[in-house]
Amino acid sequence: MINRDEIDKIIDSTDIVSLVSEYVTLEKAGKNYRGLCPFHNEKTPSFSVSPDKKIAKCMGCGKGGNPITFLMEIKNVTFNEALSELAIKSGIKIDLKLPTKKVDNNAKYYKIMELSQNFYSHNLLATKSGEIAIEYLHKRGIDDETIKMFDIGLSSNKPDVLYNVLKESKIIELDMIDLGLVNKNDKGFYDLFTRRIMFPIKDENANIVGFSGRIYQGEDASQPKYVNSPETIIFKKRNILYNLHNAISDIRKKGRVILHEGFMDVIASSRSGNKESVCSMGTALTIEQVKLLKRYTNHAIICYDGDKAGIKAALKAIDLFTSANMQIHLVLLPDGLDPDDYSKKYGHDAYLKY
Ligand code: UTP
Ligand code: MN
Repeated sequence: MINRDEIDKIIDSTDIVSLVSEYVTLEKAGKNYRGLCPFHNEKTPSFSVSPDKKIAKCMGCGKGGNPITFLMEIKNVTFNEALSELAIKSGIKIDLKLPTKKVDNNAKYYKIMELSQNFYSHNLLATKSGEIAIEYLHKRGIDDETIKMFDIGLSSNKPDVLYNVLKESKIIELDMIDLGLVNKNDKGFYDLFTRRIMFPIKDENANIVGFSGRIYQGEDASQPKYVNSPETIIFKKRNILYNLHNAISDIRKKGRVILHEGFMDVIASSRSGNKESVCSMGTALTIEQVKLLKRYTNHAIICYDGDKAGIKAALKAIDLFTSANMQIHLVLLPDGLDPDDYSKKYGHDAYLKY
């Protein structure tokens, strides 16, 4: 067990302003800071952070408190989990029976995924071949701000550029292979993703755990539209929802989540103003994903493609949400359109209204 003194020490060492800033945009107000409350919907800021008193609390709804309470409520985690996270942040060693070892081990993999992401970003934004891909994205209504917001990148049109970039960074080949970034044949090592627009897939803590790559030129039936990272040590598809890390604060504020089928739908929906959008990446919704969502809200809006397959998948999703006692709404888009098609055809405002 951990004693009161140690808990106080962890609270004292916490930089509460930078902790809260991960979730709330703060501005200085005298000795304190304030911002819009992450726990309820409001237009004037009543969430106050006191660095002296180590308190982050809403004057309106009363949620929040010391750093531990704040973290427990904002992330829906237990006391021990919150404490452990704060201890790690402050570099304090505590004796808690928690999967901290697992977290530490994975840090190495997240770093490699981030290196890869940096390469894909650079390749999209700062190279000649990136220009064609950017043109494609613009045509699809994805502007520069959206590219940045979703960290969209581009894999190389040569076979082994990422491999060489990672090798230069002293990453060992076994790790590259384990993460599904690189593979090996009798000619040597080669990148798993080439010539594709890259969507990094993050877990709810914003660690990159996988990638999905979309073809953007010479679309034909011989190639899959999207190629996804294989299941790896850190990428378990049934536990991941695309965009959840970005959506969490809006899911809380609006008290609902919107579930889509694909990346482009989440992006279009977010751009329309529904930032509480996530997707299960084409595969059927899993009970693990439902449980993950239930940590943040009890209300799900299912907004799948308006075609036969979409409706069938929606019915399955309804069963799962029902079994978790969640409130459900279903949006049926007309004419077999998906949210991205609909926003494009009728505009973002019309989509929101629908
Ligand atoms: P969709 O075919 O509806 O794609 O598949 P989309 O999201 O609307 O993308 P665009 O508009 O055609 O570019 C839904 C989701 O299914 C997964 C992807 O996650 C995709 O977003 N999918 C689809 C794959 O994993 N592989 C595929 O070959 C196709
Ligand atoms: Mn689409």
